[in-house]
Amino acid sequence: MQTRARRILLGFAAIFAVGALAIFLGLFEHSVVSPATDQPMTSAEMAALVSRGRYLTAAADCAACHNASGGAPWAGGQAFALPFGILYSTNISPDPETGIGGWSRADFQHAMRDGIGKSGRHLFPAMPYVSYRQMSEGDVDAIYAFLMTRQPIHTATPADSFPLPYIRQTMTFWNLVNLPDRGFIADASKSPEWNHGRYLVDALGHCGECHTPRDITMGMIASRYLRGAVIEDVDAPDITLAGLARLGFDRDSLVQFMRAGLGPQGVMTFSMHDVVQHSTRYLTQADAEAMAAYLIGNPPAQTVQPAALTSQADGDMTAGRTTYVAVCAGCHGVDGEGIPHIAPAMRTNATLRLPTAHNLLLVLTQGLPEHAFPDGEHFQAMPGFSNLLSAQQIADLVTYLRKSWGGQPRL
Ligand code: HEC
Ligand code: HEC
Ligand code: HEC
Repeated sequence: MQTRARRILLGFAAIFAVGALAIFLGLFEHSVVSPATDQPMTSAEMAALVSRGRYLTAAADCAACHNASGGAPWAGGQAFALPFGILYSTNISPDPETGIGGWSRADFQHAMRDGIGKSGRHLFPAMPYVSYRQMSEGDVDAIYAFLMTRQPIHTATPADSFPLPYIRQTMTFWNLVNLPDRGFIADASKSPEWNHGRYLVDALGHCGECHTPRDITMGMIASRYLRGAVIEDVDAPDITLAGLARLGFDRDSLVQFMRAGLGPQGVMTFSMHDVVQHSTRYLTQADAEAMAAYLIGNPPAQTVQPAALTSQADGDMTAGRTTYVAVCAGCHGVDGEGIPHIAPAMRTNATLRLPTAHNLLLVLTQGLPEHAFPDGEHFQAMPGFSNLLSAQQIADLVTYLRKSWGGQPRL
């Protein structure tokens, strides 16, 4: 009896081991790239795609990660801290040795949409291929054509610092769980504008990479799509219809905010400022409108009401108001109306309307760096107040701001 149980157990273990090996070797991987891309494009075909490729490269925000600050454009080298080591974004300039100069059209397609680079090297999802998987083959071709016209930069990507040699290959397990089987599928029940907006949000803009929370494997949780996540210790808010309405957006103000980076809702800050600066500012009016039509509805502008504001002056608000007038009003205006070229409005500011005071506290304690905005507006840095105000003063101030203008209860 004992031997029989042992045999059954061994049998299961063997099946399990064979299954795991098959996954590891990538036998369950499913490519969304068509064999047609094995055929290289002619130089005339490539040339015709360059200007569209430039636009798509901006809309997909490749620069955010592949232009290291201070480094040459497209030369990569930006560091990403993963739990088991440091990963660097790669050189994607067309240098034949250190960049993608020697990459075929198909190599590039597989990297962008399957997460598998040249010679079968698995990429880590710090490169947002889970989102780019939804990009159309034609759009990926256009980006390839554009990048191949860039100045080749001869800079080797720093080697990653992973302790185990086969760790990249284990991404086959991760992909099995987290990489969707198929690319973008249009929803026939919705308008072409809505579908185009979804494509811009999900495939190109990869908004979910920061705004959708992740599970324990670090995959995006589909059921909590765009419902808000923490990215580099900053709350990236809920940008579903309900979330955006709560922050005070309607369709038109969202279009303006995505292109200008500022509006009555305040300014884009932290990593979102970079998204505007490298990417969404370049969207055409029609594309920004499609994005907003998808995110906030089409045409529901009148039905979206900002969160109700309460402005009663409670007794416990006096201390906060006093600090505001003494310390903040000089830049943000006595009634929080903002001062052009000095500081954004507080009264209508989305930061005060977030469900938690986390981002507000970050700004108050650490301040913000100097920021330029696409329409020429330029704000000086905002100082941090952690040394100037006591914890009690900050708490009272936060309560005052959120309660008087943010429609929120106490801290
Ligand atoms: C959020 C950051 C991020 C964005 C945005 C991003 N990448 Fe990457 N990319 C990376 C990182 C990090 C790597 C390295 C991944 C690895 O080595 O596992 C990478 C790798 C690559 C590779 C593989 C290169 C090689 O040598 O294996 C290509 C090609 C690439 N990216 C192209 C692009 C293009 C084109 C875009 C825009 C459409 C883009 N990336 C946007 C972070 C990013
Ligand atoms: C690299 C991460 C990242 C990506 C990608 C990203 N966001 Fe954000 N987003 C943030 C963070 C962090 C914040 C919070 C900072 C702030 O409010 O300005 C934010 C805030 C916002 C806000 C609220 C603005 C405000 O001032 O409260 C909107 C609207 C928004 N994002 C929309 C988008 C859309 C649409 C996309 C895709 C095109 C996108 N984001 C892509 C990180 C990101
Ligand atoms: C010296 C002028 C100055 C003072 C004083 C100042 N701020 Fe600011 N504040 C700014 C500027 C400029 C910005 C926008 C920075 C940027 O471009 O990102 C800003 C941004 C903010 C933001 C983020 C707004 C957004 O749209 O995301 C908040 C919240 C804020 N300030 C609150 C305060 C509070 C509360 C005080 C008082 C303790 C204060 N500020 C004092 C200049 C100031």
